[in-house]
Amino acid sequence: MGQNTTRRGFIKAGVAVGAGLAAGKAAAQSDPLITEVQEWNQVLGFGVDERPYGIPSPYEKAVKRRSVPWLTADPISSINFTPLHDLDGIITPNGLCFERHHGGVAEYDPAAHRLMINGLVDNELIFTMEDIMRFPRENHVYFLECAANSGMEWRGAQLNGCQFTHGMIHNVMYTGVPLRLLLEEAGVKTEGKWLLAEGADASGLTRSIPMDKALDDCLVAFKMNGEALRPEQGYPLRLVVPGWEGNMWIKWLRRLEVGDQPWHHREETSKYTDLMEDGTARRFTWVMDAKSVITNPSPQAPITHGSGPTVLTGLAWSGRGTIPRVDVTIDGGKNWHAARMSGPSLDKSMHRFYYEFDWDGSDLLLQSRAHDSTGYVQPTKDALREIRGTNSIYHNNAIQTWYVNKEGVAENVEIS
Ligand code: MTE
Ligand code: CO
Repeated sequence: MGQNTTRRGFIKAGVAVGAGLAAGKAAAQSDPLITEVQEWNQVLGFGVDERPYGIPSPYEKAVKRRSVPWLTADPISSINFTPLHDLDGIITPNGLCFERHHGGVAEYDPAAHRLMINGLVDNELIFTMEDIMRFPRENHVYFLECAANSGMEWRGAQLNGCQFTHGMIHNVMYTGVPLRLLLEEAGVKTEGKWLLAEGADASGLTRSIPMDKALDDCLVAFKMNGEALRPEQGYPLRLVVPGWEGNMWIKWLRRLEVGDQPWHHREETSKYTDLMEDGTARRFTWVMDAKSVITNPSPQAPITHGSGPTVLTGLAWSGRGTIPRVDVTIDGGKNWHAARMSGPSLDKSMHRFYYEFDWDGSDLLLQSRAHDSTGYVQPTKDALREIRGTNSIYHNNAIQTWYVNKEGVAENVEIS
């Protein structure tokens, strides 16, 4: 941490520690790692032919997707989680994007992949991947959040780590063709108000999408973060449905049927609907509401450096727009502070926030609260349960609390 920062927080923190240094020690105190020649300074490194496709340093091997074995019966119809506590900025690296499959990861030869548009259109069409590449394409950064993200937390604090409570989300830059252009090519009939998107994997997952959304900002994407989609993310083609629940983002996209009403298939009736306290279910809850989580400190990322200057950071997102503001509290809501937003503020993308503070070494209750560009404010768990009860799995966007003890160990807790 340098001395040249001009931010008020750090100047204050530096003064508290003394000598103007926020962290680090005076170079006059000898450190053999800097004063003595080390073994690794005297051997040649490996050559450019060693890794034609790069991989992270072996020292980063703990940074990986993880699953919760008791959540699903087998690894084929399963979930793993993005290690949010190990990441920074807003982009999720391709190899760390959480996965949710209903029939395992399909691996398709792009030369044999086809996308068909049928139903209420003037011309039923079949596209090869090459055909799709000839349409004008766009680039957009969007978050994808599974509707079941934080689903295990409805009845109480359960999973100990933001990877598990909030890790069914990723945020990447997609390259793809606006769905509108493909639909225009087929010519949607005036009574065509709905679209059924279908995957080519063993689960043959299908979802009904209103035509207005399909014509608005959906993409038929073939690249993520500049390179081809990973098999786990639907290679060679996936539907991108910005701001809407992850289940609608059909992977291995093979068919789009235009109809005059929704299909009410399994994934939009018995699953991915919200069961209310009185036993009724909410129909079609597509949009992911504003939400945030502190990624550090958190149960998998305790404070190990003791009291003094401490960096708190996290992520916020909204399916309805951008995140102009995140509030942070370190005392369970007695005092709220405006976090510092950093990095691009993109529509329906994750946003990064920081709050630097001088930790006095006492117990902490950390929370973050997102405000989105529509003015909506992320609710407390109590406020959300007031309306939704505790029968639900899906659409839990409540404020998360981490308790940090004097040793810096963090734990998932609830306060009311
Ligand atoms: N599409 C197909 N064809 N098959 C699937 O199993 N899972 C859905 C959706 N699209 C799924 C699918 C669910 S529930 C989610 S949350 C997202 O894909 C997960 O996308 P990801 O694996 O890229 O994280
Ligand atoms: Co999902």
